[in-house]
Amino acid sequence: MAGEIFWIAISCGLMKIVDLKKEVVFIEQYIELRNSYAELLLTSPVGMTGTREWLKRDDIEIRGLADGCVLLGVVILYISRNNEVALFAKERNQGIGSQLLKVIESVAMAKKLEFVRAWVLEGNIAARRTFEKNGFIEAGTSRREYMSFIQQGIDYKKNLKGSR
Ligand SMILES: CC(C)(COP(=O)(O)OP(=O)(O)OC[C@H]1O[C@@H](n2cnc3c(N)ncnc32)[C@H](O)[C@@H]1OP(=O)(O)O)[C@@H](O)C(=O)NCCC(=O)NCCS
Repeated sequence: MAGEIFWIAISCGLMKIVDLKKEVVFIEQYIELRNSYAELLLTSPVGMTGTREWLKRDDIEIRGLADGCVLLGVVILYISRNNEVALFAKERNQGIGSQLLKVIESVAMAKKLEFVRAWVLEGNIAARRTFEKNGFIEAGTSRREYMSFIQQGIDYKKNLKGSR
């Protein structure tokens, strides 16, 4: 048992930001977490094979916050979707979402992107609050189709200073 705990501590380390393209040990947790929020993210459930392929794409950046071997949350930057950001946290209201937004903004700035965007379901108050308190500004509303239903959402945008 002690040996097992030691091995876990060595292989996973302490609280850290991880690039999920490189740290494949977190992929299963990522899939489980993402699929648990499919309706809020307006996505279809993803699987292991598709995810491994998807992670090879050059037009996405993906970072997680991990506490040891536990993935606490994930943020994705979809560059070819006009820099759209999506995020989700295992436990809410502990500042994980805000930390992840700061991380992905740094990633975007390093890639010289001038802004990041987000689209949030109108009724997703927690997500709206998270983006707003992190400097995302409402830029209008738009609709998206999900499971044959039209969903109303808020468009957010944040200009990134110093990215040039
Ligand atoms: C969006 C999400 C990642 C935010 O992560 P988080 O770790 O909870 O974010 P933070 O703790 O940094 O901030 C949450 C804020 O929402 C507020 N909040 C939560 N529920 C709320 C509610 N029902 N009404 C009003 N505010 C609410 C919290 O009070 C906090 O704001 P505060 O610091 O002013 O008190 C998380 O809610 C989540 O995983 N949601 C499901 C997936 C999702 O909807 N993703 C967004 C789609 S892009």
